Order: sequence, then structure tokens, then C-alpha cells
Amino acid sequence: MTTTSTTSAPAADWVDPAALAIDPYPTYRRLLDECPVAWVPALNRYLVTSFAGCRAIEEDQETFSAAVSGGGATMARALGAQPMLRKDDPEHAHERRAINPTLRPKSLRERWAPVFERNARAQLEVLRQRGPGDADLNRDYAAPVASQNLVDLLGLRGTGVEDMRRWSHAFIAGTGNLLDDAEIWRRCDAARDEVDTLLDELVPHLREHPDGSITSALAGAGLPASQVAANVKLTIAGGMNEPQHMVTNVVWALSRHPDQRARALADPALWPTVFDETVRWLSPIGMYPRETTRDVVLQDVLLPAGAPVGVVVGAANRDDAAFEHADRFDITRPRLPHLGFGSGTHLCAGHWAARIAIGEIAVPLLYAELPSVRTDPRRAESWDGWVFRGLTALPVTWDA
Ligand code: HEM
Repeated sequence: MTTTSTTSAPAADWVDPAALAIDPYPTYRRLLDECPVAWVPALNRYLVTSFAGCRAIEEDQETFSAAVSGGGATMARALGAQPMLRKDDPEHAHERRAINPTLRPKSLRERWAPVFERNARAQLEVLRQRGPGDADLNRDYAAPVASQNLVDLLGLRGTGVEDMRRWSHAFIAGTGNLLDDAEIWRRCDAARDEVDTLLDELVPHLREHPDGSITSALAGAGLPASQVAANVKLTIAGGMNEPQHMVTNVVWALSRHPDQRARALADPALWPTVFDETVRWLSPIGMYPRETTRDVVLQDVLLPAGAPVGVVVGAANRDDAAFEHADRFDITRPRLPHLGFGSGTHLCAGHWAARIAIGEIAVPLLYAELPSVRTDPRRAESWDGWVFRGLTALPVTWDA
């Protein structure tokens, strides 16, 4: 990170948040080509888009802290206390250690894969009954499967998929509520009260009767009730939307690449590769924040102490310096690590859960049952967002 010619960050005053939300990839391309470490006035933060820059940030959490001021305050307000995501080690590690065993591949495959499969099969029936002229993959499959999987993984028995969806959206909106919108706080506070009430009963019960869920692991780790609750709410915010978006992203990508779809249908061992290439190519989390603790030079650019930095993994995953023809969706490309799940100390705690529940179960089952499933060009699809990006509607059809 040291260099011979240091400059202050170029200002990318042409970046338009509205254009980013519609389709961030043209903006990412220009930032990568012209100024991979840039000051972006419209967002009031530095954006780092290069793969090497994003990796360097994650390798130095003492300089690039996750305990960011603005966004950290709204997250603590939204979730009732600061969760692990906005803490640095060793505090972060203490909480993270509690949930790791539940989310390891062995425990997920043995304990949770049958649950994920049951949830996917039940919802496939709903999708099939909707029929090829009316089905919306997001509404009828992706969202309810992701929601039910998270209800089960968290051990929140009795919670409906619609409640989980509502809470998840309310916490995400609250966490990003930098402009203090009163209506967003109202919905977020209502969701927080509902979840806290549920946990007030559940956590003491789980301390006595562990059940293998994430909430049980947090309760059994000796953390104070407020920290258990904050991390359960963090997982509600982070554990539903992205798996949901990955179901629709894979079908969208394969519908545009019929040759690659045919390969996956012919060789089911390719599904994990399809999943990972889709996380790289259409990353459901585009950007997450860090804050510098001192003056630092990143890729020849000086960042002052206290600088708000956006780690734009959605762009880094399209950096040609890291991936050949990075803009191409290609399940045959050499397998290289991408940044779709972050990296370093905050590497997504649920990455194996997502890979197994969606990449190995929900998507392969969908294609096994409906091999001709594809996007339906007669009805409108809709994308939204760049910090969190996904399809809010994906009409699909199949040969009946
Ligand atoms: C494809 C699906 C998913 C994607 C793309 C994704 C992405 C990410 C990313 C990029 C981060 C790092 C954010 C940062 O450093 O600021 C993260 C953290 C996290 N994710 Fe995920 N996630 C997914 C699924 C899940 C699931 C299913 C769960 C829970 C069951 C989950 C729980 C978490 C938690 C608890 C953290 C915080 C980890 C820490 O602070 O150490 N995620 N995720």
C-alpha cells in the first residue's frame, strides 16, 4: 500500500445515485477504468472499485474499521445494539465464534439440508400451481423459500414467512436510514419490538434447551441478551434478501445463456459453480462501508483519517485485472476467489448456508422439476438497488 507517487483522490462528480440504482454496471466500469479509488461527492464517501483495493482494505482492519460512525449509529439504533458486523476484533471475534459451528458445511449438510429441501419442495408446488402464464419466481418461490429457511435456521418457530420478510425489510431500511425518515423508523421500531418480545421468551428457554439453531448458539455462548438479540436481528436483515436474490439471479443469468444452462442441466455437479459465478457476476451486495482510522495510501491515493469508504465488491468482481473478460458470465472460467461474500474477518457468516440452501438445493431442485424454466419476456421484470441489488419481480414460464 506504499508508493512513490501519492495523490489525493480524484473526484468522480459524474456519479449519479439514481443511475446506480437502475443499473450500476456502467458506473462501475467507468470508475474501474478512470479512478478505482475516487471521492464521490454525491455519496459523500470514497468508493474503492478495484479488486486489489477492496482486498487490501479487508486485509487491514486496524486501518479500515468496520465500526463506521454514520452507518454504525443507524445500525445500532435499528437493531437495538451494535451487532458483530459493526465491531472490530477482538470484540467482533467473540460474537462471531458463537455462530460459526452452526454454519459450517458439515453441520449444515447433516442438520439443515433436509429442512432446506423440504422448504424448497413445498414451495415448488405453489410455483407449479401458479402455472407458466402467471408465475413470478421472486414472489412464488425465491422469497418464501429464503424466508422459511431463515425462520428455521434461526429457530424462530411459529414465525410466518411474511413476518420474516417484513422484519428483514424493516431492519435493512432502518440500518440505511441516514436521513432519519420518520416512517422508516416507525416500521423498524415496530419490527424490533416484535422480535425483542419473541426473544425475551425464547432466549432463556434456549439457554436451558439448546436446539442447534443460530439463536440457540448465540444464547449458549454466554453473551448478554442484548447482544444475542442484536445479532439475531442482524441475521434477519442479512440472511434473507441475498439468498432470495440469488435464486432469481441464477435463473435470469441462465435464461440469457442457454448454452451454459444446457451444460448445467446435463451435469448437475456444475450447480455449485453456477451459483458462485452468479454471485460474482451479479453480486447481491454491491457495496459495504468501512472508515479509516489513520491517514493511509491505497493504490497511490491518499485517504485521510476518518474517511468514509465504500468497498464496492460488485465492481471489484467485474475487474478485468482479477478475472479475464470479467463482464462475461462464464461457468467454465478458472475458479478464482471473488468478493461477493466479502473477505477477511467479516467474510459472510452465512456463505455456506447460502451455497447449500440455494446453490445445492433450491436452484437444482427447481431445474430438476421444471427443466425448461426461463424468464418470460411477455411480462415485465424489475431490478432495484446497487448497495443491495436484486430482482423485485421475475416472471417465469416453462413448457407445460
Ligand atoms: C448469497 C447470499 C449472501 C451474500 C451475497 C452475503 C453477503 C455478505 C457480505 C458481503 C458480508 C460482509 C459485509 C461487510 O463486511 O460489511 C456478509 C456478512 C454477514 N452475513 Fe452474509 N450474505 C449472504 C447470505 C447470508 C446468510 C444466509 C446469512 C445467515 C444465515 C448471512 C449472515 C451474515 C452475517 C451474520 C454477516 C456478518 C459477519 C461478520 O460480521 O463477521 N449471510 N454477508
